[in-house]
Amino acid sequence: MAKIAVLGYGVVGSGTVELFYKNKDSIIKKAGKDLDIKYILDIREFPGSPYESKFTKNIDDILNDSEVTLVAEVMGGVHPAFDFVKACLEKGKSVVTSNKELVAKKGAELLKTAEANGCNFLFEASTGGAIPIIRPLHQCLAANDITAIAGILNGTTNFILTKMINEQMDFDEALKMAQQLGYAEKDPTADVEGYDACRKICILSSLAFGKHVYPDWVHCEGISKITAEDAQYAENWGGAVKLIGSVKKTADGKILPMVRPAFVCNGNQLSHVSDVFNGIMVYGDAVDQVMFYGRGAGKLPTASAIVADLIDAAKMNGTSISQKWEDSTDNSFIADYKDDVVAFYVRTEGVSKEKVAEVFGEVEYLSRENQPAGELAFIAPEMKEKDFDVKAAALGGKLLGTVRVLDLEG
Ligand code: HSE
Repeated sequence: MAKIAVLGYGVVGSGTVELFYKNKDSIIKKAGKDLDIKYILDIREFPGSPYESKFTKNIDDILNDSEVTLVAEVMGGVHPAFDFVKACLEKGKSVVTSNKELVAKKGAELLKTAEANGCNFLFEASTGGAIPIIRPLHQCLAANDITAIAGILNGTTNFILTKMINEQMDFDEALKMAQQLGYAEKDPTADVEGYDACRKICILSSLAFGKHVYPDWVHCEGISKITAEDAQYAENWGGAVKLIGSVKKTADGKILPMVRPAFVCNGNQLSHVSDVFNGIMVYGDAVDQVMFYGRGAGKLPTASAIVADLIDAAKMNGTSISQKWEDSTDNSFIADYKDDVVAFYVRTEGVSKEKVAEVFGEVEYLSRENQPAGELAFIAPEMKEKDFDVKAAALGGKLLGTVRVLDLEG
């Protein structure tokens, strides 16, 4: 018999408890041992809840109970989650988490603590919600030299962009809807400005390339500057604007992780990933490319990954799995994104085609319905980003927007 403690009874925590009891019989069969939830930690009161007797506000109840060998951390944030998780691991209790901020900022340390204490720190739910990506990347694709990963890793922004494009909803209305549906973080800045996607690409990068990639080292841009006009140009170009988290190997042996909105052409499966769904392409020397697709956020989809990790942790019986990476002391293995060769979409006002030709040479012009007379939109030729910056500044007129074109074929 193994007892479980659930830390946090918010959207994912309540989903974890609900799913566990809904499918308890088959979960126990798959785990190969009897399991039950003994504690739910939350500072709030839940009077009348069918699980009322399990609630505690004191982490020591869990830490000091030797019956509890499995812990699901679904509180979010680094503090106090980090202290709680570390203390559980130090007591030899395996921890599973959906907390991408915790894994992205403290993953290497927690993985080391788990190994030192003969238990496991698992985080399938931290990236891609319901989508199996952590284990497939570590296990099923282990024979490959991974060359790149690119994905739509944030359900909220994909939901917002989809509503803006398909239903002409304004940004605030779409964000409110995403929050009501439980997709958005409490503070939507993390979704909208790309920090959430950044944490997830850090986790995938660390796992794929074996060294901890810290969020501060990753260039990150969100969707707050994307306009309905940009979305319309992208559609007429033959694609869609998506918030892309990616990492790729560079010619000098470094890696380039990055988060930014990008024009994704219709030939790439990622352009068809809509609403709250996430899609992740993994490129490897043997597989060429594989795609993972599914619900990237929400109560039961995320709980699905949490409960699966609990089942796996229950089966491991004191063995510590190899799904881990080394800590890194500096970021010398991260390439400078300004050296990356990329094509840009450019929207300008008050610039002539002659000037565009003088600065960029031949470009691909785009059009949209009701395009104002002074507005030009085009795709510039590929060049290093730092060279593009110089040319864009030389255009004159007014630069209304620039968006990178996703370079990974798909
Ligand atoms: N806010 C996140 C998203 C939740 O929208 O993808 C899942 O990590």
